[in-house]
Amino acid sequence: MLLDNLDDYRYWRDKKLANAPTQLSDCIVEIQNPFKLSNAEKNKITSLCQKGNFALFQIQPVDQYDEAIISVNTQLGLKDFDQHLFVKTGGLAHITQSDKKDQGEFIPYTDKNLGWHTDGYYNAIEQRIRAFSLFCVEPAAQGGVNEWVDPQMMYLLLREDNLDVVKALTHPEAMSIPEHKVDGKVRRATSTGPVFFIDEPTNELSMRYTQRKKNIDFLDSLEIKQAVEHLDALLNTTTDYHFEHLMQTGQGLLCNNVLHKRNAFTDDKDNPRLLLRGRYFNRIE
Ligand SMILES: [Fe+2]
Repeated sequence: MLLDNLDDYRYWRDKKLANAPTQLSDCIVEIQNPFKLSNAEKNKITSLCQKGNFALFQIQPVDQYDEAIISVNTQLGLKDFDQHLFVKTGGLAHITQSDKKDQGEFIPYTDKNLGWHTDGYYNAIEQRIRAFSLFCVEPAAQGGVNEWVDPQMMYLLLREDNLDVVKALTHPEAMSIPEHKVDGKVRRATSTGPVFFIDEPTNELSMRYTQRKKNIDFLDSLEIKQAVEHLDALLNTTTDYHFEHLMQTGQGLLCNNVLHKRNAFTDDKDNPRLLLRGRYFNRIE
């Protein structure tokens, strides 16, 4: 297996380093018609996702952004969507500030800063999120920049620096998220697992992680505590593989569940920031 066999690891590492994108301008795909992607557009997106696990794309203004994005995602094989709490038709959630009490308790639906995380880090294994899309219908009046980095590259950089750090983060009980209860009823069971792991169905190195400190339990060991500090320190610096972009109307991110964050923002009350997000159980290949 990749993580244990040194030759396999080195082969994977060298290929990854040779192909990984470092310039955002190389990673943007102009889509002429979201309802009918050309082969060249599709190939560019999948090839970018194979190399760096993400692609940015841009479409011209349309009347129905929901339909356009569902169409783009479907053409890329992203159909198997997560029936998340606030998902609307076709699997897209509208990420915007919410006054609704139950929704406003979740940070994505506020104007607050969101720290580094992978999507669905609290999901059970059977509901693992392998890809997500984020599309901007309306940017904020100020702020709301997204940052992201390929988790596979984070693993690689950590491992090159200190093998013990990645060993600790692959511990099968490294990170637990307690169950989520509403009015005494369990909505989601406790989720325990490693931070880095090989996702068996796809054989891809994957990650579940969040920098949130609330409702997260790391295994009580010095090795894991120090490993998490190393990981956070690396995430909080800027490497060649960290990307930052303020998405404008018509721009979107497609990715194999990369680590990402969002900066706080201020809304124009009449035109609040609106992003469409889809979460999928399969990868973009
Ligand atoms: Fe997210």
